[in-house]
Parts: sequence; structure tokens; C-alpha cells
Amino acid sequence: MKSSIFITRKLPEAIVKSLEHHFEIKMWEEEDTPVPRSVLLKEIQDVEGIYCLLTDTIDEEVIKGAPNLKVISNMAVGFNNIDIQAAEQQGIVVTNTPGVLTETTADLTFTLLMSTARRIVEASDYLRNGNWDTWSPMLLTGQEIHGSTLGIIGLGRIGEAVAKRAKGFGMNLLYYNRTRKFEKEEEIGIQYADLDTLLKESDFVCVMIPYSPKVHHFIGKDELALMKPNAIVINTSRGGIVDEEALYESLVNKQIWGAGLDVFEEEPVSTNHPLLSLSNVVTLPHIGSASVNTRLKMAQLAADNIIHVLNDKSPLTPVNS
Ligand code: DGY
Repeated sequence: MKSSIFITRKLPEAIVKSLEHHFEIKMWEEEDTPVPRSVLLKEIQDVEGIYCLLTDTIDEEVIKGAPNLKVISNMAVGFNNIDIQAAEQQGIVVTNTPGVLTETTADLTFTLLMSTARRIVEASDYLRNGNWDTWSPMLLTGQEIHGSTLGIIGLGRIGEAVAKRAKGFGMNLLYYNRTRKFEKEEEIGIQYADLDTLLKESDFVCVMIPYSPKVHHFIGKDELALMKPNAIVINTSRGGIVDEEALYESLVNKQIWGAGLDVFEEEPVSTNHPLLSLSNVVTLPHIGSASVNTRLKMAQLAADNIIHVLNDKSPLTPVNS
């Protein structure tokens, strides 16, 4: 008899087919919205696998509500939506999708950095709204990218890929990481700095650490206060890492110059959120990995992880083993 799995969102057909070959599938496909909690709790009762997204909260209640569960496969590299400890206690394998999204997320991070520095969204709106009367010496002037200093907080895969892009743009590079990466310093040409030094010396501060409660508001009032008045904060990691209230205050008080945000503490962010009222903030709807190819690779890797685990093979990309 085939094992059964629950998929929390409608997936591309090819991915569903590759899963159907192995499993009985139940899938939330009524709308492109997160599966309602009550449906999730009902559907997982007898499944051995859950295929989920970062929009699903897979907490202790869900995990305990699925006594046959063997694997939770998250179609994302971040897995802060899953209670890893509760999964471990039940002997459940949790997998994510690292690697396949590294370069695409780095592309978007750099796009956001450049768009914020050169006021691309504001400039485009300015033109379309009929405000362009004449060329003017200081019209829509932004910040220099080449020759400036980028401080990367978290030199993991994506941080490193961002650093390589920055190098090509003639930027100076600093990084802060829990552990120093001597070989990367040499290979990329990046210098280690303690957090305060990085915050004080960088023109761009790029947050690239995975979220956990330990790093909640890692960038808060005190950290923002150390930054330069021309500094730009870029966050494509998770919203909770930056204290949004403190960020808003520092932008309004001109303590720092701008911010580029692909992620928010609460997603989807409310259109009434104060940060969305500021022209020096570029905001995106969590699209770091959103290229067609990369999303398909993530979806397939998440599928392959379930296929492996439920066929008694080692998971390809486990987070908890
Ligand atoms: C992730 O994978 O964690 C990103 O936030 C979405 O690609």
C-alpha cells in the first residue's frame, strides 16, 4: 500500500506527478492561500509525510496530531515555521531546500541593494506620475554603490554569493559571523569585523542570518544608532531579525538613509504599515528566490526529500540530523 502525504498548497503539475508515482496524495488546492488550520489538522491525521511552505505553522499541535508522520518537507531554506524540537521528539525528519536558491536569492538581494541606493522605484513612480519637468542637478540623487562598504551579517551560502556580486561592483567587504571563516576571507577578499565595527563602518548593512527566537530583533535601536547617516539596511532573510519600529524611527529621524526589505515580521505586511509610507524604503513581497527555475528546483527538492525518507533512504537535505 502506498504511503499517504499531505501537500499544503497547489504545486506545479510535474512536481505533483513525481509524488503521485509514490504516494496517495491529498493537497490543499482550493485557493492559492495557506491551508486553513482546521483543514491542516484534519488532513494530516493519517499521513506519513507533510509537504509544506514557509506560510504554514507546523507546531507541536500539528506534529502530535499526525501519529504516523515520518517526514516534514519544507519548500524553503528557512524553517522557522516548524517546531524542530517537537519533530525531533517524535523522531520525525525535517528537510528544507538549501543550495538550489542561493544564487537567485543573492541576485534579488543585490537588486534590492541597488534599487534602494539609486531610488529606482521612486524614480520610476516620479516619471509615471507626470512629475518629470526637467533634468536637474540633484534630482533623485542616491548613494554610491562602487567604492562603498558592504557589511554582511551572516556569511552563509547566500551571504557569500552576495559578497561575490559586490566584489564585481567594486565594493569593499566586511562580514560578521558567529564563527570566523578564514578561508573565505582569502577566497572572496572579505574582512571580518565585530558587529559594532561592521555597523559603524558599512554603507550597506545586509542581514543574511537564519531566523530563530535567539536572533529576534538582532538589528534594533542600539544597532541602528551605530550606523552611518548614509547607511542602507537590506533584509532578504526573515522580518523578525530587524525591529521594524526601531527601523522606522531611525529612517524618519534620518539616523540612517534607507532600507530595502523583502521580508516583514508579519507577512503579508499590511499596506498601512508605517514603513510602507516612506519613499526611502523599497519593499518587496518576499520574492528572494522567485525565479521560475529556482522555484521549480525548490519544489522538486522538497518532493525528492519526501520520496527519499518514505522509501527508507537518507533525506537529501535534512535540517535535523
Ligand atoms: C526561503 O527559502 O527560506 C526563502 O525565504 C523563500 O525562498
